[in-house]
Amino acid sequence: MRAVVVVAAGSGTRLGFGVPKAFVPVAGRRMLERALEPLFTLAEPTFVVVVAPVERLDECRALVADVAGPAVGHTAVVPGGPDRHASVEAGLAALPDSVASVLVHDAARCLTPADQVERVFQAVRTTGAGVVPALPVTDTVKRVDVLGPDDSAVVVETVDRAALVGVQTPQGFPLDALRAAYASASRSETDDAGVFQAAGGVVHVVAGDADAFKITTAWDLRRAEAVVADRGADRWPSGSPGPGLPAGVPVATRVGLGVDVHAFDAAVPCRVGLLAFPDEPGLAGHSDGDAVAHAVCDALLSAAGLGDIGGRFGTDDPRYAGASGTVFLQGAVALLAEAGWVPTSVSVQVIGNRPRIGARREEMQDALAAVVGVPVAVSGTTTDGLGFTGRGEGLAAIATALVHRATGADTVHTAAVD
Ligand code: CTP
Ligand code: MG
Repeated sequence: MRAVVVVAAGSGTRLGFGVPKAFVPVAGRRMLERALEPLFTLAEPTFVVVVAPVERLDECRALVADVAGPAVGHTAVVPGGPDRHASVEAGLAALPDSVASVLVHDAARCLTPADQVERVFQAVRTTGAGVVPALPVTDTVKRVDVLGPDDSAVVVETVDRAALVGVQTPQGFPLDALRAAYASASRSETDDAGVFQAAGGVVHVVAGDADAFKITTAWDLRRAEAVVADRGADRWPSGSPGPGLPAGVPVATRVGLGVDVHAFDAAVPCRVGLLAFPDEPGLAGHSDGDAVAHAVCDALLSAAGLGDIGGRFGTDDPRYAGASGTVFLQGAVALLAEAGWVPTSVSVQVIGNRPRIGARREEMQDALAAVVGVPVAVSGTTTDGLGFTGRGEGLAAIATALVHRATGADTVHTAAVD
C-alpha cells in the first residue's frame, strides 16, 4: 500500500480570511476538497491521511467522506500540531504499517495535478530515495545582507540560478526512512526533504508543475481562481475542421442566425447558393438576390456579434449593385478574421417551391464551403403551399453559423517556494 499525508492544519495568517486556509473556497470549492480530488483518481489504491485543525475535525471528516466516496475506508483524519513539522509527524503516526512509500503534500497547493502525484510515487519506487517535484528558477537571484529591522538590504552577489530550483509538494519517501528522519530531526528544516536529507537521506528531483504553486496570499488565491476558470474553458479539439487553432487552445464559441427573403423577378438571372440556375426566374434585389448566400452572411456576422449584411455592406451602396453572393461572403469572413473569429461550420435551409435544390445540393455545399472555408450543410423545404413561398412569390433562406475565437486566457505561471 502507498499513502499520502495531506497537511491542512495551518491557520492561513498571511491569507487573512480568519478561517483556516484549507477551508477557504477557491472558485466555490474549499482548498482541501480541491487538493484531495486528484488523490482519489489515481490508478493504484492510496491511503490518504488528512491533518486538520483540531477545531475542524468533524467538518474535515465530512469533507473527506464526500470527496473519497467509496474509498473513505482508506482515509484517516487526525488533528494537527502547532507547526507544519508537528502536523507532518501526526500524519505519519496515523499511517498503517503496511505503507511502503508516503507522499507529504500541502493542502495549500490545491491545484496540483494528479500526474505530478504519480510522477513522485513512481520516482520513489524506482530510486528508493526521497523525491521532490521542482521547477527552474526564472528570476535572477541575489544574496543580500539585511541591514536593519525594516528589512533594508544591500546585494552581496548574484547567485547562479542554473543550480537552483523551486521546490513543491508532494514530496515522496520510503515511509520507514522518513519516520526515522522525523524522529531525529531538529525543527529548522522548512520541508520534508530537508528533514530527510538532514538525516542522511538522498533526495532526487522530478519535474514540478506551475499549477502546483502554494496559495499563501490573496494574490495567489486570485491566481488559483484564474487557473480554475482557464481549466473550465472550452478547448479547441484536435482534428476539428476548418482553418483552426492548435489543439488545446482555450476558445470561445458563438452561434449565429441569419434569414433572408427575395421576391422572384423573371427578368433577372437566377443565382441561389452561389450557383446559376439558367432556366429559373431570378430574384429581385440591389445585389444578385442570392438569399442563401445572404442568410449565411448574416449568420456569420451575427455569430461574431458584428451586426448584419445591410449594416456592414450597405444595401444602397453602388459598389454592391448586382454584386454576387461571393462578394458578401468573402467580406463577412474577412470581417470575422479582423475580429479574431474563425467560422467552424454553417448550415442553411432554402425555403420555397423553386429552384429545386436536391439535385444540386452537393455542388451548392461545395461552392459555399469554398468561400467560407468550413463545411456548409444545405437543405431544402417547401411550405406546403402556404404563405409567400407557397404561392411562389419569393424564396427564403435560414442559416446558422458556429464560430470560434481563441480566448487567450493564459495565466501567469511561476514556481512558488515554501
Ligand atoms: N500546516 C499544518 N499545520 C501547521 C501549519 C501548517 O498542517 N501547524 C500546513 C498548512 O495547512 C499548509 C502547509 O502546511 O497546507 C503549508 O503551510 P503554509 O502555507 O504556511 O500554511 P499556513 O501555515 O496555514 O499559512 P500561514 O503561514 O500564512 O499562517
Ligand atoms: Mg505557515
